[in-house]
Amino acid sequence: MKTLTFQNSYIIGVISAILIFGSLVECRVPSSYNLNKVDYTAINCRKHSALLTDFGAVGDGKTLNTKAFNSAITNLSQYANDGGALLIVPPGKWLTGSFNLTSHFTLFLQKGAVILASQNEADWPQLPVLPSYGRGREAPDGRFSSLIFGTNLTDVIITGNNGTIDGQGSYWWDKFKQGQLKLTRPYLIEIMYSDQIQISNLTLVNSPSWFVHPIYSSNIIINGLTILAPLYVPNTDGINPDSSTNVRIEDNYIESGDDCIAIKSGWDEYGIKFGKPSQQIIIRRLTCISPKSAMIALGSEMSGGIQDVRAEDLTAINTESAIRIKSAVGRGAFVKDIFVKGMNLNTMKYVFWMTGSYGEHPDNKFDPKTLPNITGINYRDVIAKNVTIAGKLEGIANDPFTGICISNATIEMFVKKNAIVENGVHKVKLPWNCTDISGVTSNVHPQPCALLQEKKVDCPYPTDKLPIENVQFKTCSI
Ligand SMILES: *[C@@H]1O[C@H](CO)[C@@H](O)[C@H](O)[C@H]1NC(C)=O
Ligand SMILES: *[C@@H]1O[C@H](CO)[C@@H](O)[C@H](O)[C@H]1NC(C)=O
Ligand SMILES: *[C@@H]1O[C@H](CO)[C@@H](O)[C@H](O)[C@H]1NC(C)=O
Ligand SMILES: *[C@@H]1O[C@H](CO)[C@@H](O)[C@H](O)[C@H]1NC(C)=O
Ligand SMILES: *[C@@H]1O[C@H](CO)[C@@H](O)[C@H](O)[C@H]1NC(C)=O
Ligand SMILES: *[C@@H]1O[C@H](CO)[C@@H](O)[C@H](O)[C@H]1NC(C)=O
Ligand SMILES: *[C@@H]1O[C@H](CO)[C@@H](O)[C@H](O)[C@H]1NC(C)=O
Ligand SMILES: *[C@@H]1O[C@H](CO)[C@@H](O)[C@H](O)[C@H]1NC(C)=O
Ligand SMILES: *[C@@H]1O[C@H](CO)[C@@H](O)[C@H](O)[C@H]1NC(C)=O
Repeated sequence: MKTLTFQNSYIIGVISAILIFGSLVECRVPSSYNLNKVDYTAINCRKHSALLTDFGAVGDGKTLNTKAFNSAITNLSQYANDGGALLIVPPGKWLTGSFNLTSHFTLFLQKGAVILASQNEADWPQLPVLPSYGRGREAPDGRFSSLIFGTNLTDVIITGNNGTIDGQGSYWWDKFKQGQLKLTRPYLIEIMYSDQIQISNLTLVNSPSWFVHPIYSSNIIINGLTILAPLYVPNTDGINPDSSTNVRIEDNYIESGDDCIAIKSGWDEYGIKFGKPSQQIIIRRLTCISPKSAMIALGSEMSGGIQDVRAEDLTAINTESAIRIKSAVGRGAFVKDIFVKGMNLNTMKYVFWMTGSYGEHPDNKFDPKTLPNITGINYRDVIAKNVTIAGKLEGIANDPFTGICISNATIEMFVKKNAIVENGVHKVKLPWNCTDISGVTSNVHPQPCALLQEKKVDCPYPTDKLPIENVQFKTCSI
């Protein structure tokens, strides 16, 4: 027993020594140390980390930091097979040109960190055109690399405590409007041919063109983004999954001059040949403001096909249309198995909009006999206020859009102050205009067009989960 007591007091002594030594050590570290410990959630945590400033970066908003980003990421790429690495972008304004990401890597923007895109074209390298588009969307020859670019990667994360990435797009918008660009405008973030991507908890502003463009990729989570572009600048789409599979887009707020989300899969003969659909996509809790475009567009480039898209709990304010399907002769492929549930809409030109005559071909080599198959389009549980046209559903002659289902939709029409009253009812514009389509409706107000037959039905919404819905975030700390 004596020995034990001795041992116990010895142990207590050692513990006190450690505690005292520990607190002495603690006294020497800056008091901000604990404040700097940050928890965040991610698909993977990283074993190694470094600060952007370790690589000579200067956060004054004036010094160009492209070299610092490149050497930091090259340096950290050595840890890809040793637990991965995280690059911290501290508070400050970090001007940079385009840079490339690497695998098993996290770019982390601390609160107050702003990545500022250079407005000097020399800082934006040129990339070859996308094979599924056959040309640049805006100029035939080539395209500028996105600000943050990645290709052929596995496990790449861009996140932070709501840090900001500012594309400083006004330079590009002006030149685009004046027809002065020889290449297609850059995107803010583009990830190609990659697997396991997370983009979350950031504010993205003023992209030169599209904001977030995953293409030829899979297993993608995009959440907690605030995306802000002026409401009247063209092509500032928010999130554009393109020829990508298994995508989860949740809790995003988007204000855009173009579609808040646009799902795509290549353009006419190039997209048909490339043949990679966008599929298994879930969108939840989106808020959108887009007076010139759609909350969610499918197409118009859809020549690899779009299928199994689920969207629920959507809010749009002052937006041209809710869901819009855009296609054309020559596109081929399909848009099918689209499920939408729960839309809350306020001030909108069209709630339901389908266009089979969108046009816009990459060149005149498209085959006008190659028609898209648009079928299995399901909408339910819709409340809309202040709407100009409830539905404009326009298929293609001899290629009707089929299997349309709309149930439980209440649409309040916008009534002009001086609207004519007939039989006690304000005359509004024809609320529905349907051509070359077929389908059913149930409990929809105002009464739909005759091509949508009344039938007692709840339009389907899948009850199974997509594989990406089972991916759990880990809690990591820096
Ligand atoms: C993003 O932020 C929200 C709210 O602060 C938090 O709950 C969530 O875990 C974060 N998600 C990611 C992926 O970092
Ligand atoms: C880059 O990595 C090497 C280890 O390979 C390390 O010694 C070096 O200090 C790193 N460079 C910087 C600027 O941190
Ligand atoms: C970034 O990747 C592109 C495409 O692979 C390549 O052309 C470019 O040289 C890379 N840039 C750097 C700085 O490595
Ligand atoms: C990236 O992956 C694509 C498709 O697998 C392949 O064609 C291309 O050569 C790869 N590029 C690089 C730089 O490895
Ligand atoms: C992130 O910042 C934006 C812009 O300041 C703000 O509107 C948004 O509410 C912030 N998000 C979170 C989760 O704090
Ligand atoms: C369109 O696709 C559906 C579902 O895959 C199929 O049943 C139908 O035959 C196709 N229609 C045409 C015209 O190819
Ligand atoms: C009809 O839609 C509203 C609004 O989304 C929803 O609250 C309600 O539960 C739906 N009714 C049925 C019977 O599904
Ligand atoms: C209703 O919509 C009209 C035209 O689309 C718009 O001018 C008006 O401000 C909207 N009213 C409300 C209350 O939002
Ligand atoms: C209905 O839509 C068709 C096809 O887009 C168009 O040609 C026609 O003018 C529209 N009718 C009305 C009354 O708006």
